[in-house]
Amino acid sequence: MWDFAGRDTAIDMGSATVRMHLKDRGVVCREPSLLARCRRTGRILALGVPAQEMAGRNPDVTLIRPVRGGAPTETDAAEYMMRALVRRHQRRHYTARPRLVVTVPSGLSSVHYRALRFSAYQAGARRLTLVPTPIAAAIGMDMTSSVRSEITVIADIGADVTDVGVIAFGGLVTSHTAPIGGSALDRAIVDLVRREHQVSLSRSAAEAAKVEVGAVPPLGRRPVRQTVVHGRDIATGMPRELVLTTVDVGRAIAGSVAEIVDAIRAGVSGCSPEISGELLSVGVTLTGGSARLPGLERLIRDRTGLAARIGDTTGDAAVLGAGEVLRAARSPEPPARDSSPNPHLLTTLPEFEY
Ligand SMILES: Nc1ncnc2c1ncn2[C@@H]1O[C@H](COP(=O)(O)OP(=O)(O)OP(=O)(O)O)[C@@H](O)[C@H]1O
Ligand SMILES: [Mg+2]
Repeated sequence: MWDFAGRDTAIDMGSATVRMHLKDRGVVCREPSLLARCRRTGRILALGVPAQEMAGRNPDVTLIRPVRGGAPTETDAAEYMMRALVRRHQRRHYTARPRLVVTVPSGLSSVHYRALRFSAYQAGARRLTLVPTPIAAAIGMDMTSSVRSEITVIADIGADVTDVGVIAFGGLVTSHTAPIGGSALDRAIVDLVRREHQVSLSRSAAEAAKVEVGAVPPLGRRPVRQTVVHGRDIATGMPRELVLTTVDVGRAIAGSVAEIVDAIRAGVSGCSPEISGELLSVGVTLTGGSARLPGLERLIRDRTGLAARIGDTTGDAAVLGAGEVLRAARSPEPPARDSSPNPHLLTTLPEFEY
């Protein structure tokens, strides 16, 4: 079970990356959400980067992804990961029971909701606050301050999910969590290479190519770049090297990127006519690692009519917001800074005392 040694902690358990924020120390951890387990003994051998390096190289090792679709689906493994990371980042021994702030997809199912509450209890948490990712990301970018009255639209595009939320000072006006993100783009690249080149490519090689040369078509005046990838020839079983260009990657990912745009459309479509009008002036702010895909803002603008911009922070936005929720919770007096999150918004977050 989790074993937080008493330090209040903000956590974003992403499907690809787990992030942790500690007061006074900022973001202390950005680690791949991966564990390596020995097939024979069942023991966990490595976590994060070392586990990733074992992938496919050691026949005795299976890789576990404790978080899928933005939710800790492998509960025991997720708890193990948390415990190990918190221990690694603790400096002193704490005895008090900690307060936890954890980001969750806005559409988290009631089953996962209960599992998370139980895990936090097992971990010895004194109190648990759950923050829907769009709210956390908005707070993390200082977009929900007490002095602002306008609404904020966040589309957090991660690895497994796109979480879209329209936020007013009273909380989420409407939201939508869709099972689409960067991993689907990687799978689409693997599929294209298999189909057109008869080469089997690893997901991580596909992801590296996407990050290096990927862009959303049409490219316009964007330069066509190229990268070399290595895979296995399906017919001969021998290693093969091939060149992928921005055009190839763009062709592969176009369908999945369209699904991301559809998710954004679905996320804002539930707004009242009054708020819908306001959306045109506020636009949508993109966070999450996949927001960095070149050309995505332009496609969203073209297909939805909403001005899209990339957030000041992308991947870290949600955990920074969770950290800010923790800070604000400790100082109940009125916010000291104009940029502090609106206190009313904070009262809308589900909180459990054990
Ligand atoms: N420069 C980049 N261009 C395109 N995609 C990128 C870039 N950098 C990171 N990504 C993608 O962003 C994704 C990871 O984003 P993030 O860390 O926000 O995910 P996560 O929070 O772990 O997942 P989720 O929120 O879906 O649970 C990966 O799919 C990664 O390939
Ligand atoms: Mg995320």
